[in-house]
Amino acid sequence: MPSLKASVGTTIFIVQNQKTKEDMKVATLKTPSETAIEMREMVMPNHTNNHGTVFGGTVMSWIDIAAAMVAARHCGRPVVTAHIDDIDFIAPIKMGYHVLIQASLNYVGKSSMIVGVKVTSENPYTGEVRTTTKAYLTFVALDDLGRPVSVPGLNPETEDEIRRFDNAKKRVQMKKDVRSTLKNRS
Ligand SMILES: CC(C)(COP(=O)(O)OP(=O)(O)OC[C@H]1O[C@@H](n2cnc3c(N)ncnc32)[C@H](O)[C@@H]1OP(=O)(O)O)[C@@H](O)C(=O)NCCC(=O)NCCS
Repeated sequence: MPSLKASVGTTIFIVQNQKTKEDMKVATLKTPSETAIEMREMVMPNHTNNHGTVFGGTVMSWIDIAAAMVAARHCGRPVVTAHIDDIDFIAPIKMGYHVLIQASLNYVGKSSMIVGVKVTSENPYTGEVRTTTKAYLTFVALDDLGRPVSVPGLNPETEDEIRRFDNAKKRVQMKKDVRSTLKNRS
């Protein structure tokens, strides 16, 4: 009997060692909802420009912080902002309004992560809600020496998460095509 026990144990050990890198990545897949965050701010006088609405740089800072938190929650590592893909200021936000910043992970590469952020303003007196800003940011996870390091895979589950994943994948491919076209021209 002892030898049977040993052989069973050995078999299990070998199977575990045969896992490919892809298997390991699948084993650590995370869903976007596991790491999504919401942040709230109130627009104060120090946030506003000379029109009495929130300064664009302040909104960008809130977006960057919210997105960085999502990326760090996904990979469990320090992250840096590598790129801001797209930022649209759709409507101004007035002083005294409440601001909701929602961020979630749309896509991951090897060491990079694309986070989508939506900013909504709320008039606290009427309850009127408006989407004011949307942005996509790329973060890169760093190892202890500050070099890019692999991140867990992403498992989009809902219809919205799958749509965001597919759109982000297309944007990544488009950017790669543009970069290679520009490289070939120079
Ligand atoms: C981001 C940074 C770590 C990338 O380093 P690098 O040596 O160029 O890394 P690599 O070329 O190996 O690329 C690593 C990943 O980053 C991605 N990446 C690098 N620059 C990018 C950019 N401008 N836009 C989008 N993705 C980018 C690559 O596509 C690659 O993704 P993948 O691993 O998923 O395939 C480096 O450029 C850096 O430190 N930048 C400064 C970051 C910073 O200070 N941010 C502001 C404060 S947080």
